[in-house]
Amino acid sequence: MTFEFNTENQKKVTEILAKYPQDRQKSAVMPLLDLAQRQNNNWISKDVISCISNILKMPEIKVYEVATFYTMYNLKPVGKYLLQFCKTTPCMLRGIDKIIHDCEEKLGIKMDETTLDGLFTLKEVECLGACVNAPVVQINDDFAEDLTSENFQQILNDLKSGKEFKIGSQTGRQCSAPQE
Ligand code: FES
Repeated sequence: MTFEFNTENQKKVTEILAKYPQDRQKSAVMPLLDLAQRQNNNWISKDVISCISNILKMPEIKVYEVATFYTMYNLKPVGKYLLQFCKTTPCMLRGIDKIIHDCEEKLGIKMDETTLDGLFTLKEVECLGACVNAPVVQINDDFAEDLTSENFQQILNDLKSGKEFKIGSQTGRQCSAPQE
């Protein structure tokens, strides 16, 4: 299916392009990929690549190279909630493996899979930069921190029933203040 930016996003495309010199318009490839991904149910299809290639007048393979280099771009459809589990050392030491194990068991899927209802996709990532409140899972654009298997299961239940989850520390900790 052909991809085109909708009217609202076409205005944003114009604003993004205006930030770059006329002879450097290709530098807008990353924000345009991000904008397109948000419009396209959180993934970059071949048609998205073609659309951006046309706008920036750059070969499709060059757009594809950028999209494949950064893990923030999803190259296949993902669920409504993309759960990105940090597997770097501080999160491992603080129990991310159990959280992943229990999550996979609850949802009946493994890493890089999507639940049949299209709600959840699981992904492993490297450090999310919030190690002080490890373990951390990124849920779409937001972080859930200070996780345990129990509070993460509660988050899954909330998301399943259409509720929002509490962003940030799940234990009430303020920023990175010491835990009592
Ligand atoms: S190690 Fe997990 S957020 Fe840094």
